[in-house]
Amino acid sequence: MSTKRILSGVQPSGLLHIGNYFGMIKRMIHFQESSDLFCFIANYHSLTSLSNKEELEKNTFTSFCDILALGLDPSKSTVWVQSHVSEVTELAWILSNFTSVGMMERSTSYKDKINKGLKPNMGLFSYPILMASDILLFHSDIVPVGKDQKQHLEMTRDIAIKFNNAFGDVLTVPEIDIDENTDIVTGIDDQKMSKSYNNTIPIFGDEKYIKDQVMNIITDSAGLNEPKDINTPLFKIYSLFLDQNKVEELKERYNTPGLKYMDVKNELFNCIMEYFSDQRARRDEYFNNPDSVYDLMKLGQEKAKSVAAQTIEDVKKSIGML
Ligand code: ADP
Ligand code: TRP
Repeated sequence: MSTKRILSGVQPSGLLHIGNYFGMIKRMIHFQESSDLFCFIANYHSLTSLSNKEELEKNTFTSFCDILALGLDPSKSTVWVQSHVSEVTELAWILSNFTSVGMMERSTSYKDKINKGLKPNMGLFSYPILMASDILLFHSDIVPVGKDQKQHLEMTRDIAIKFNNAFGDVLTVPEIDIDENTDIVTGIDDQKMSKSYNNTIPIFGDEKYIKDQVMNIITDSAGLNEPKDINTPLFKIYSLFLDQNKVEELKERYNTPGLKYMDVKNELFNCIMEYFSDQRARRDEYFNNPDSVYDLMKLGQEKAKSVAAQTIEDVKKSIGML
């Protein structure tokens, strides 16, 4: 059996958080030993929500350091910045001709973003086509994502099938990989954790900010001597870091009168800092050696481009571009 190609991306629209980690990055790292792994920083996608030059530059660099520090290894995998492989926009244009306006109009993420105040421009509207291009350009077999991306993946499959029906088996139709246990990591306010909702617990950066976010996790108003509700963000977030036995222990403590939320929050904070301590140290090293990071970006660009160039050539030939 040939090695599967696994691909995913993350937008550099803010600080990477534990929702990104448990929803997608942790599984990517797990796949790294046994697969042909492709991971990129989706900075073209971030243009839909960011229009500040300095911020986009800084976030792109930082997010690249973050995914390296979390364990994506450029010597084993292909790790790059989306805009460094511009073939992706060329393929997106071609694919847009196989994408119905109706399908784009049904995009729940487009509607959500408009409701949250993002400008309804064409970049935002055709966001899923660029995402399909990311995936199809590299003949991805499997795409690990959080549940919020499910519809985008279904659209990608739809576009690839339509294209292949017209021109033969040129594109690989990808499988979606969503982990049932961490498909939607909850934020400190019990909504989905997301950079755009200001409800994240970041992995890197200022320790005090991380502590403040943990202390701000909402809890119920049960009194000290009442049993506590486990269907609340503090319990759900802490459980991400615990094995099954420890989750059962925590449940027991929630059922026992006398539990103080402040104690649980302090434990969770210490647990997070311990869990990510090696990664935080590695992240500082990358951050303080920007030249080595730029070299790794270049390496990723070369590796990704060699695959992309071949796909673009095959696609163009298949549709009649001389
Ligand atoms: P954000 O919503 O914070 O901007 P991204 O859109 O960049 O995050 O997501 C990068 C990856 O992390 C995607 O695969 C996405 O599905 C996953 N992800 C983001 N937030 C969560 C979450 N709260 N729970 C599970 N997965 C998530
Ligand atoms: N849209 C994804 C998100 O917001 C990021 C992304 C862009 C992506 N292109 C991708 C994820 C291709 C997987 C595959 O999370």
